[in-house]
Amino acid sequence: MSKVSVLIGCAFGDEGKGAIIDYISPHYDIVARSGGGANAGHTLVVNGVKTIFRLIPSGVLRSNTKSILGNGMVIDPLILLDELNKLKNMNINNGYLNKIIMISDRAHLVMPYHILVDKILDKDNKIGTTKKGIGPAYTDKIMRRGIRVCDLFDEDLLIEKMVDAILGWKHVFANEVSEDILPTRIIEKLKPAIDEIKKYACDTVYTLNNLINIGTNILVESAQGTGLDIDFGTYPYVTSSNSSVGGAITGLGIPPTRITNVIGISKAYITRVGSGPFVTKITDKVGKYIQEQGNEFGSVTGRPRDVGWLDLCSLRYAAMINGFTELALTKLDVLTGLSEIKICNDYQHLKTNIRYDDNYYKNIVPIYKSFPGWDRDISGIKMFDDLPIEAINIVNYIKEQVGVPISIISVGPDRDQTIQR
Ligand code: IMP
Repeated sequence: MSKVSVLIGCAFGDEGKGAIIDYISPHYDIVARSGGGANAGHTLVVNGVKTIFRLIPSGVLRSNTKSILGNGMVIDPLILLDELNKLKNMNINNGYLNKIIMISDRAHLVMPYHILVDKILDKDNKIGTTKKGIGPAYTDKIMRRGIRVCDLFDEDLLIEKMVDAILGWKHVFANEVSEDILPTRIIEKLKPAIDEIKKYACDTVYTLNNLINIGTNILVESAQGTGLDIDFGTYPYVTSSNSSVGGAITGLGIPPTRITNVIGISKAYITRVGSGPFVTKITDKVGKYIQEQGNEFGSVTGRPRDVGWLDLCSLRYAAMINGFTELALTKLDVLTGLSEIKICNDYQHLKTNIRYDDNYYKNIVPIYKSFPGWDRDISGIKMFDDLPIEAINIVNYIKEQVGVPISIISVGPDRDQTIQR
């Protein structure tokens, strides 16, 4: 039977999905990305060399793994072209990338005007978006005026659709005159990317389902995390798509009944970039220490990420929404050297079910359980039992409190620095 695994971020993105996907991808024939766009930055470190992908799934560096960019994604053609060129330069699959990469012909495209709109609408950083045009591209999708990959095959129709979309944003452009809103200029600018994307476009929905039917193993790579989900996250401080398990289904056309396991991925602490509530945020020098040790600076925008203690209330909520069957715990090594490690296991005065939205969070005070830390370098450890007892106690506590087994622990950025249980 086909194994269909979905990997979901537990908090506000940046949980280390890239490294974990790269590590487990040899067990899968296909890695398929279901949502988001170039707002994500999945970092891989192979033999000490760091590579960041924003659009192409993180399994692409494994020679036998094929990659699918699903219909739920919003794809920036220029960034995709850049990534494809990067892979060609690395000589991945001898440069024959169209044999290993498929792009859904239903995926939406992020146009230059979407990026412009994003920059104008969030100029005061109320949400703190990545300014990659994500919200406006998903808005056009819902408004039924989006540009899809399949539209690239008819240039006249493409221009007509662009005019329609650009007119839809004219209230935003009121005082802006830019080449990014002239359809013919846009096409000129995007031409090399458009020509390239057309080589990879296909109906990935049938491809995926046919492959599942013949027993192919699929790993679904989601982007961002449950705290940024448009329905279940800290609305309105969220991204514009379903980054929880529902998005994995609608973003690829995989039936929910074919999913065999859902892997939640959580750091041993939490980070958040952009605005929005953050109950367990650490504001003293400990936060700074974790930020530096964990290199917590955005891989897309370079912004420093706020750091907080692990929040089991939100982790249990993520486990409920997504139905996690296992957890991957990343960056445990970053906590090395702290004399005290805290984990939030409850909220004070909790009278209602946790709602995980902005209004609810305003009145929340976290209750912490304190753990002693460890000093010993754990970044070379391969077996769980070889970890310091203090680290083992923390992992076991998280497992018990969330009620989900922890199958993978990462103790460093390289694919080899991973403990499998
Ligand atoms: P957008 O997705 O660019 O519209 O940004 C909306 C919110 O989601 C902002 O707070 C971003 O910082 C956050 N966000 C979007 N993608 C990521 C990600 O991959 N990691 C972390 N935060 C993200």
